[in-house]
Amino acid sequence: MTTYTAADPSVDQFKNKIQQRQARIGIIGLGYVGLPLALLYSEQKFQVTGFDIDQRKVDTLAKGGSYIYRITTEEIQAAKAQGFTATSDYAQITAMDAVIICVPTPLNEYHEPDLSFITDTTHSIAPHLRAGQLVVLESTTYPGTTEEIMVPILEKENKGELKAARGTEASGNKFFVAFSPEREDPGNTTVARRDIPKVVGGLNPRAAEMAGALYGSIFNRTIPVSSPAAAEMTKLLENIYRCVNIALVNELKLLCLRMGIDIWEVIGAASTKPFGFHPFYPGPGLGGHCIPVDPFYLSWKAKEWDFRTRFIELAGEINTNMPYHVLSSVGSALNRHKKSVNGARVLVLGVAYKKDIDDLRESPALTIIELLQKDGAVVSYNDPYFPFIGKGRKYDLQMKRTELNDLGQYDCVLIVTDHSDYDYQKIVQQAQLVVDTRNATRGIKDVKIVHC
Ligand SMILES: NC(=O)c1ccc[n+]([C@@H]2O[C@H](COP(=O)([O-])OP(=O)(O)OC[C@H]3O[C@@H](n4cnc5c(N)ncnc54)[C@H](O)[C@@H]3O)[C@@H](O)[C@H]2O)c1
Repeated sequence: MTTYTAADPSVDQFKNKIQQRQARIGIIGLGYVGLPLALLYSEQKFQVTGFDIDQRKVDTLAKGGSYIYRITTEEIQAAKAQGFTATSDYAQITAMDAVIICVPTPLNEYHEPDLSFITDTTHSIAPHLRAGQLVVLESTTYPGTTEEIMVPILEKENKGELKAARGTEASGNKFFVAFSPEREDPGNTTVARRDIPKVVGGLNPRAAEMAGALYGSIFNRTIPVSSPAAAEMTKLLENIYRCVNIALVNELKLLCLRMGIDIWEVIGAASTKPFGFHPFYPGPGLGGHCIPVDPFYLSWKAKEWDFRTRFIELAGEINTNMPYHVLSSVGSALNRHKKSVNGARVLVLGVAYKKDIDDLRESPALTIIELLQKDGAVVSYNDPYFPFIGKGRKYDLQMKRTELNDLGQYDCVLIVTDHSDYDYQKIVQQAQLVVDTRNATRGIKDVKIVHC
């Protein structure tokens, strides 16, 4: 990676402003990624403006409130005292020195990348762009998005005929562009966000240097790569690595169940190897905004190059099948009690896509509930983070949380998400039958427990 060394007033000016905490930072998309990022900059004494099209979020923040479970109102209020404001008015973009985009990148109904949030945002920014500004995309996406999709819109639709800075040409009438993937692991309290190294790929060396300075002010380490595409691909490699390894343990779990071997015991033993093995754990299916979605961004893009990403497709097939495995395990467990799924009262414990977080996106619990209902089960659920499950992109359940009492009334208690708040000993004691998809009941010996 070449670092630009010649004096360049606009780059130096930008870096100076960062150092002096005079740079104004705009964060677009105040969700699970954008809001914590805005707070990090605010903690570091920057003046931050958050942009979101969801007026409810803007209003909540204006009142000093929070809509993300792990972010307290005190944190929002401290940021407000530091000058943090939220708005849906894109005209304020002009006043920003750096603009960081953290909008969603889902799949559409055909399992193809839906870049509409990125393109909508880019169309909104372009008319307010000015020379010297740095625009960074953080949303997870396929290699080429920043350069092939975002930059052309910004260049075509800005009002000053500005061009993105490329190569080592003088800055002049230019704006700067970079990609830097978000690597947060929600619910993981073992690594502070500032200790997660930040990968940065600039469209040219100056953009890389500016983005390095921008993130160097809140992260302990930045990792420059040669291009936005390399940074985009880095994020996908990380998530595909996870997706494929989870599929591997999910498949081996199915085999172990058939062979009467405890996969959790095996993973625990293999994890004692001091090198060459990293543990991944089986579960009821993939969830969250990232692992079930991101790999398909790459398999879609690969087709343009006449290339099939077979590992991704195979992993997708195995992981997608896991909720169906859970359904069939509930069926066999009930069968042993001379009951059928049809008409059984089933309590689903935990609906978040993983433990101790308030995120339902792509959660396997939603699929499992739908499958159970389709087969005639009377399903209730409990989750400390969700009093109600309404309508999402792919489901419309309209269910109210059931309190955790009188567990004996259910034919089956199905543990889908192993939240730490649950007293599993007590749950097993009270239930007639427990089907455990997460090994949450480890250490408890009882014939009522069925591992699946
Ligand atoms: N959540 C995670 O743990 C995580 C981790 C790593 C990467 N990512 C990636 O980060 C990106 C954002 O994810 P998230 O979880 O924060 O999503 P989110 O849905 O929680 O938040 C996105 C926000 O963007 C807003 N938005 C949508 N279109 C907009 C527009 N045109 N202008 C302004 N605001 C707009 C939405 O209203 C929402 O508040 C995604 O690409 C995701 O893959 C997420």
